[in-house]
Amino acid sequence: MSDGSATQLGIDVGGTSIKGAVVDLSAGGLAGAIHTEPTPPTATPGDVVASIGRIAVAAGWSGPVGVALPGVIDGSSLRHAPNLSASWEDPDALGCLRSGDGANAVLINDADAAGLAELTYGDAAIDSEGLTIVLTFGTGIGSALLHNGDLIANSELGGLVGANGRFEEIASGRAISVEGLTPVEWARRAQPFFDELEAILNPSRWVVGGGLSENFDRFASRLRLSKAISVAHLGVHAGIVGAAVAARRAGRGSGGAASR
Ligand code: BGC
Repeated sequence: MSDGSATQLGIDVGGTSIKGAVVDLSAGGLAGAIHTEPTPPTATPGDVVASIGRIAVAAGWSGPVGVALPGVIDGSSLRHAPNLSASWEDPDALGCLRSGDGANAVLINDADAAGLAELTYGDAAIDSEGLTIVLTFGTGIGSALLHNGDLIANSELGGLVGANGRFEEIASGRAISVEGLTPVEWARRAQPFFDELEAILNPSRWVVGGGLSENFDRFASRLRLSKAISVAHLGVHAGIVGAAVAARRAGRGSGGAASR
């Protein structure tokens, strides 16, 4: 496989683990095994880049990679990344991802990656039906806005504050597992979040991804919404696939499986 092939390595950097796999861009799914590393306790740019390098080797991939990151990609630094080290906010923190081992890495917010995957491979209606809000419930709550077939990048809707605090702190996937929330308890916390977004942004539909996609029916069925809600087409793999799509769209996804 080389330039012109429809495969691309995508990496999803999370607060607890870093996952990567070669993606089949034609089929919109994984073309190989998922390789996982625990997110280094320091979660510094250098350590994360080292993990990405090991994942690329394990996947047999050489060349550019698409990397989904939990934070706002703002020029050369990563803002609002509470689940990684504060050093990501340093000027040029992203430089090490774009050079050396991560040569020509294409960076995208993790929830935006999930949104891009949905836009590319999900329900065709997303292209034509006003605003779709994609929410990923994992260590935090990520968001992607899909409007008439376009991704509006770097929204941070999980940072909204309700009566009981920031929604991403009280209603994330982590809150569910750490506090052992039942679906009913979670819905009590998440409902005001959805209500607020419905009032402000008037979406046409909702898509839920991240860890919650594995328990979508149990949890999402507890919400009262005026518009349809569905599970992310690619489930927990949406970040990996979307990162790969971003790399290919940027025209840098020209690597391939290294000969072994
Ligand atoms: C970050 C977002 C990210 C979300 C999910 C939040 O803490 O600010 O950028 O998308 O976590 O990982």
